[in-house]
Amino acid sequence: MDLYRLARPLLFHLDPETAHNLAMKAIHHRLGANLPPVENAKVKLFGVEFQNRVGLAAGFDKNAENVDRWHEVGFGFVEIGTVTQHPQPGNGRPRLFRYPEQKALINRMGFNNDGAEVISRRLAASKPQIPVGINIGKSKVTPLEKAAEDYAFSFNLLKDHGDYFVVNVSSPNTPGLRDLQEAEHLRKILWHLREIDDKKPMFVKLAPDLSEKGLAEAVKVAVDFGLTGLVATNTTLSRKEMPRDPGQSGGLSGRPLKKRADAVLKFLRSQAPHDMVFIGAGGVTQANDAVVKRRTGADLVQLYTGFVYGGPELVQECARALAQTKPQTKGQTSGT
Ligand SMILES: Cc1cc2nc3c(=O)[nH]c(=O)nc-3n(C[C@H](O)[C@H](O)[C@H](O)COP(=O)(O)O)c2cc1C
Repeated sequence: MDLYRLARPLLFHLDPETAHNLAMKAIHHRLGANLPPVENAKVKLFGVEFQNRVGLAAGFDKNAENVDRWHEVGFGFVEIGTVTQHPQPGNGRPRLFRYPEQKALINRMGFNNDGAEVISRRLAASKPQIPVGINIGKSKVTPLEKAAEDYAFSFNLLKDHGDYFVVNVSSPNTPGLRDLQEAEHLRKILWHLREIDDKKPMFVKLAPDLSEKGLAEAVKVAVDFGLTGLVATNTTLSRKEMPRDPGQSGGLSGRPLKKRADAVLKFLRSQAPHDMVFIGAGGVTQANDAVVKRRTGADLVQLYTGFVYGGPELVQECARALAQTKPQTKGQTSGT
């Protein structure tokens, strides 16, 4: 029996952040599952071999503390971070809220992380068995007009430790960060990063709350800078899909995000060249949700909230389902 199923009632009695920290420790000490890899699920994309198409989304292992463990939980890749130039504590607690009936979370963590220097040392000492993506963001103390330098500092330190990089301009919990999705700001950041290294696979992560015009502009910038692809999506500020507004500020994730995240993915795919890679995130809480993402245009799929509610079993179910799913969208990368 999956140990997570036994531990879940206890974890759900605890404050969500305490439960998260405990789960991280359990995984670190191998108290969780030690699952064999899902068969026939390997896929090579942009030169990187993924164990399967299901990854742990950014924000769960912000400090790269468990990069050597995630394959044991069934993941085919992991995205660490968000990492910022400066170490920072994030917002005051409580800052993470669970809504089990909706399979949803609201968070306003605010990029709590150990900073690029400590995390690059930690990654240098690790031996991950699956690809590691590194998600970078702007430190709170850095003014918006100096954002590019902040991203560049982190990228410089971390560039040899990641298989791909994600420029996060879409978290709702750092004031002004989402303004960086605007083409002019984004171009400045990407110009700085490409000057450091223009070969590293690079993605931009977008918010589900952007207009179609904003999304189309982001695709154009990604194309102009020869990016590998886009991550769609981050959490939403909208509470439209909740039965009632829970009255907590921050980003909403999980099942209520699914419809919008899928629509954004579909739109982005329609705007993008066929060889652009898409990482789909947002509202995958059952295996069929992962299949829908894949059919909507995602090459890879990520989970955060679904993993909190469904544990390693869900990861395996998604990986198995995706190993048997063919994309429907024309021109999409087909796998191994
Ligand atoms: C508690 C929490 C913290 C998160 N932190 C980050 C983060 O640091 N950087 C980031 O790009 N996304 C972050 N996310 C967003 C997730 O990576 C993901 O894009 C989003 O939650 C949608 O996926 P889901 O519905 O499977 O949770 C966070 C999400 C949660 C719930």
